[in-house]
Amino acid sequence: MEKIVVLTGAGISAESGLGTFRDEDGLWAQHRIEDVATPEGFARDPALVHGFYNARRVQAAQAQPNAAHRALAQLQRDWPGEVIIVTQNVDSLHEAGGATGVIHMHGTLAGALCAACGHRWTAPPEMTVGEPCPACNAPSARPDVVWFGEMPYHMDQIYDHLAEVGIFAAIGTSGQVYPAAAFVHEAIAAGAQTVELNLEPSAGVSSYDETHFGPATEIVPQWVDRLLGRH
Ligand code: OAD
Repeated sequence: MEKIVVLTGAGISAESGLGTFRDEDGLWAQHRIEDVATPEGFARDPALVHGFYNARRVQAAQAQPNAAHRALAQLQRDWPGEVIIVTQNVDSLHEAGGATGVIHMHGTLAGALCAACGHRWTAPPEMTVGEPCPACNAPSARPDVVWFGEMPYHMDQIYDHLAEVGIFAAIGTSGQVYPAAAFVHEAIAAGAQTVELNLEPSAGVSSYDETHFGPATEIVPQWVDRLLGRH
């Protein structure tokens, strides 16, 4: 049975109340990427950066998974082949919706990372400037999220999955951030059928064999039902 790889972005969590980045009232309309999502911004003003992620951590902890997260978890349970979920999201709503083995290529709000020694631990709800690393004691704790200019996580594993993918779906992502935006080309090279599910056509829409436009809570469960009904 074909392996399915699903790439998700902020759009899948929008109906759970979490803001996207590039929509009209999105996070990047309210904050400068250079200030809150780069290593240089963190070096300049760590309190500002911690404040930004602390607010998002609190908001994410209160959010509930929606029908789209749950439908993907059902696909993982009921599809006779492997279903790999790769997410650009730093929330944990896929897991809260029942998904397993989710690959968080942009890290997670639930994690803290020591910029000095690389140790990882569970982030407190509020991270503070100068918080000591539990392993090396350096005052270098940062959110375990990937910033612009940094290498996303688990790339070897993701490319291994894409090399053998049979159905590739991109859900709720604008297709503007690389390397995720280029995964569809890896999937095409592997001979996969490609599907875009998004509120509106993304920047890369012309690369997809099949497209479905609408709110994720409607179009994702419908797509999952069709896939499961086919087998
Ligand atoms: P974007 O904010 O760029 O795109 C969100 C996409 O979701 C858009 O194409 C919207 O049309 C769509 N969308 C909005 N509401 C939706 C809904 N209810 N149902 C379905 N689709 C909906 O977010 P991402 O593509 O995830 O990286 O952004 C990628 C990366 O850019 C993020 O991981 C983050 C950001 O900068 C870092 O911070 C490193």
